[in-house]
Amino acid sequence: MMYRLVFMQVLRRFDAEAVHHLTVSALALLARLPLLKRLLHRALAPRDPALRVSAFGVHFPGPLGLAAGFDKDAACAEGIAALGFGHVEVGTITAHAQPGNPRPRLFRLVRERAVINRMGFNNAGAVAAARRLRRTRGVPVVVGVNIGKTKVVPESEAVADYVASARTLAPLADYLVVNVSSPNTPGLRNLQAVSLLRPLLTAVKEIADGTPRRTPLLVKIAPDLADEDVDAVADLAVELGLDGIIATNTTIKHDGETGGLSGRPLKSRSLEVLRRLRAKTGDRLTLVSAGGVEDVDDVWERILAGATLVQGYTGWIYGGPLWASRIHRGLSRRVRRHGLKSIADAIGRTA
Ligand SMILES: Cc1cc2nc3c(=O)[nH]c(=O)nc-3n(C[C@H](O)[C@H](O)[C@H](O)COP(=O)(O)O)c2cc1C
Repeated sequence: MMYRLVFMQVLRRFDAEAVHHLTVSALALLARLPLLKRLLHRALAPRDPALRVSAFGVHFPGPLGLAAGFDKDAACAEGIAALGFGHVEVGTITAHAQPGNPRPRLFRLVRERAVINRMGFNNAGAVAAARRLRRTRGVPVVVGVNIGKTKVVPESEAVADYVASARTLAPLADYLVVNVSSPNTPGLRNLQAVSLLRPLLTAVKEIADGTPRRTPLLVKIAPDLADEDVDAVADLAVELGLDGIIATNTTIKHDGETGGLSGRPLKSRSLEVLRRLRAKTGDRLTLVSAGGVEDVDDVWERILAGATLVQGYTGWIYGGPLWASRIHRGLSRRVRRHGLKSIADAIGRTA
């Protein structure tokens, strides 16, 4: 209520990207204030044992995490965790630093509860991110690292570019994500074709498997894939022994500004892709659902449909700083109301 007022009266009047950078800076500052960070973490992070989920050997305090794209440079993961997210996916990080697309490149669609972005993987590169990820952490936080292709690297050299990022970042990640689904790097989504995806995932998996703790590997897909192509990626992921799939990224199916659309309009397609993946792969892969998640009902629905983990970004923009904490508390109540011992028992119940 309070946040809605602040959002409508103040925040929405400012440039969306300026507000974004301010938020990242505030959370990075929070990460440097040990006492406040711990206090917030104690108050807001999921603490109910019934919300704990394990996936690919990693323990998550709750199922809802922050999707990639907010903390592109791994600058403030601890601050995000202190607000109640069960994990943080940093990135997309590319092997080489790059500025991204010209501004403006981030647009709010307030009435639709949506956002369009064409950021274009603006980030300081894998080496700079690795330096940040090496810092010791004051509060526990599960950090996934999402990697993508450097814009100037041609498609024919894409595998080597991803491999370079994986070498630098896989040892520092709780899980690694190959992003082949962002619409704002020309040609990137072509890499979802099995003929190109197979060599790419095979090469990155070799790096991920070779780290001291074997880093789990997932692939993130677009909602705009045809159903048969979703099936083909699912089959490939199972065949190669990947740990999971993140579905979905933003959609280009809209008629607003050029870029990827996220938030409420993405909800139904994202759920549809999740259901398809579950039907195809059963429990052979960990499914991570992202796209249009706004409240506890949405998260619960994704879990019942087969997601072990759920991610949100746009819902947080409109829901405010306490969004994740509120949803986790709602999930605790939901688990009890259904007489379950653990939220893990709800995964795939309606699949
Ligand atoms: C501003 C913005 C930037 C994003 N950047 C990335 C990115 O760098 N890498 C990525 O894999 N997904 C990125 N995404 C997509 C989100 O991770 C997520 O998949 C998508 O927004 C759907 O979730 P949502 O509806 O909860 O926002 C971005 C989304 C937004 C809104």
